[in-house]
Amino acid sequence: MTETEPGGTVIGAGVDRVDGLPKVRGQAPYPSDVAYPGLAHATVVQSVIAAGRLSRLGTEAAEAAPGVLAVITHQNMPRLERGPATLIGPAPVTPLQDDRVLHHGQYVAVVVAETPQQAAAAARLVDVGYEPADALLEIGDPRAELRVDPWGSGRRRGDAEAALASAEVTFEAAYSTAANTNNPIGLFTTVAAWDGDTLTLHDSTQWTANVQATVAAIFGLPQDAVHVKAPYLGGAFGAGLRVWPHVILAAVAARTVGRPVRLTLTRPQMFTGIGHRPSTEQTVRLGATRAGDLVAFQHHATIAIGMADENPEPVTLISTSSYACPNLDVRDDERRLNIPPPGPFRAPGAAQGSFAIESAMDELSYRLGIDPLDLRLRNYAEVEPQSGLRWSSNALRECYTAGAERFGWSERDPAVGSMRDGHWLVGYGVAGVSYHWWQVRCEARATIGRDGTAFVRSAANDIGTGTRTVMTQLSAELLGLGLDDVRFDLGDSTMPWSPAAGGSGLTTSLGVAVHAACRALLRRFLDLAARDADSPLAGCAIDDVTVTGGRIHRTGEPAAGKSYTELLTRHHLDELTADGHGAPPDPAQTGVAPAPPFAAKFAEVRIDADLGILRVARVVTAVDAGRILNEKLARGQIVGGTIGGIGQAILEETAFDAGTGRITNATFGDYLVPVNADVHDIDVVFVGAPDPLTPIGTKGVGELGLPGTAAAIANAVHHATGRRIRSLPITIEQLL
Ligand code: MOS
Repeated sequence: MTETEPGGTVIGAGVDRVDGLPKVRGQAPYPSDVAYPGLAHATVVQSVIAAGRLSRLGTEAAEAAPGVLAVITHQNMPRLERGPATLIGPAPVTPLQDDRVLHHGQYVAVVVAETPQQAAAAARLVDVGYEPADALLEIGDPRAELRVDPWGSGRRRGDAEAALASAEVTFEAAYSTAANTNNPIGLFTTVAAWDGDTLTLHDSTQWTANVQATVAAIFGLPQDAVHVKAPYLGGAFGAGLRVWPHVILAAVAARTVGRPVRLTLTRPQMFTGIGHRPSTEQTVRLGATRAGDLVAFQHHATIAIGMADENPEPVTLISTSSYACPNLDVRDDERRLNIPPPGPFRAPGAAQGSFAIESAMDELSYRLGIDPLDLRLRNYAEVEPQSGLRWSSNALRECYTAGAERFGWSERDPAVGSMRDGHWLVGYGVAGVSYHWWQVRCEARATIGRDGTAFVRSAANDIGTGTRTVMTQLSAELLGLGLDDVRFDLGDSTMPWSPAAGGSGLTTSLGVAVHAACRALLRRFLDLAARDADSPLAGCAIDDVTVTGGRIHRTGEPAAGKSYTELLTRHHLDELTADGHGAPPDPAQTGVAPAPPFAAKFAEVRIDADLGILRVARVVTAVDAGRILNEKLARGQIVGGTIGGIGQAILEETAFDAGTGRITNATFGDYLVPVNADVHDIDVVFVGAPDPLTPIGTKGVGELGLPGTAAAIANAVHHATGRRIRSLPITIEQLL
């Protein structure tokens, strides 16, 4: 329909982030930078036990400390509602409502003072007494409540148990994954400012509209009385999807002292206050023919969950559609523990589940004597296996082929322990990823002014992945403008409603809405042109025209036509605006299964034969994410996700002290993440084609880089050493 400047499209090109310069120049307003006249500062006081009751809360000394404006505890905190459930599950528990202690680090008080230092100093003076109870901290603890399939995650086809009983070859193993903590660089901050009964919140969130709806419900306010601004945040990885208790506390603190309040979590508080990837225990049982055809696939997960919290963590979700297998049974159970509430963390559920199933497929390949890549191709899901519907698009086979070629899989000697380079044992491993599909309703608005430039916006968020940039590109393409003539803005709840920047679903959800808004706007311009009988555009429908450099013309006749500016000037208008919305396609209507993004992961590890030192020497990821709007940014997501996967595989573990439930490594010094020395050759190749299900053809990139990484590494470790490590992270002791 439209194109940009002659000479090419702005889509696909490696356009730099449109907000790159303001970010590096310090001009981008992050929540922690927001200031108000008379700003006060809040600090939280946290429980030092994991379970029990508060027996004493003495606040006099803190209240008398210099600069202190208020000390809020459950004794003087207003009783508030719990927030409403959302698309991603129930809201976190509202803080300071009673004397129960459910986890170490739970907020027991909030101190408000003139300066952050005064608040922190006074927080130490709050006198907290405890009546401890036995803390349940181990996922295998039989005393802890087991919730069987609380979210209806169980999916079946055929009869997996019967097929396992009669299978020629069976394989069964248990896998476990450690808790991991999201560690965005930007410390989560909420700035709350009341004006009468209206509240403005500047928040580190991935979902502006959710903060607005949740806070409005908790405080009994109409939605439009809560204005949420989140134009920038310093990373999130899922931590910003829920409305965490500190957000509520900031709003209460501001109302209590009658001044704007800023609450910034410290790095240790980031470990307890904004979720973490929960630990899991999983069992996988596979049945196959001797030739390698899967006949049974069973995947059961138990996931750690907080004591009063809810967090649907879809560990077995991707197992349903990863392979063609007639008999399947998958299920997610939960174990309630005295741990800080978990939450989404990059590829939630899939990060843990893919480790188990892709390790198990590798183990089965050895049992069968089949190359692990061939076993995957032999059980390739040509159609979506649960529904039997054709995929809307699927280039996973090309991912395997292109990835194997790029990696040099054919040079792999299948014998375990056979590849060596000096004192390094070398191993090659592979994993496949069939991610899940996610698109939800979204709204956008587009305006073109008399100067011929466009302003497109939505309440959506950019967590640093590049949403602002790709939506600028998309708008420019759709409106036939150059990138410099389009401004895309987001992160404000007064803008049209958007779902979360999460679940790898925003680019498609929002892109479809932007597409609709831009098309609607173009139609408005054609309606304007149609008022002039002698206009070169009279009688043109939207599919008859192209826009080049802001000039609408009949396709193929670029010399004629009218510019946006000419049309607005002639009709005495300053601007035209149109709204658009997108909604997910309905498989009952389309007759196809909406395709997820797919990937193939190939890893080379090197293990020091004497010392057990493990190096991830190379990871190649081949990706089918449909149409790639900006290859530079998409590549960055896959590289970043792969590095996150290396962290999950060999470094990251949130360690809970067995006695107290305290997180013993809640600092950047103690919680290990990959640094440059841990990250070697990371290669990404994009294959596949635009998905035809939406006009923009995208399938989501954000989370795709992470799942499968740990399995590919563990499989390579086995190939190098013969050691099958079924727990994450893989540590040096396991390799000695
Ligand atoms: Mo995602 S869990 O929103 O990175």
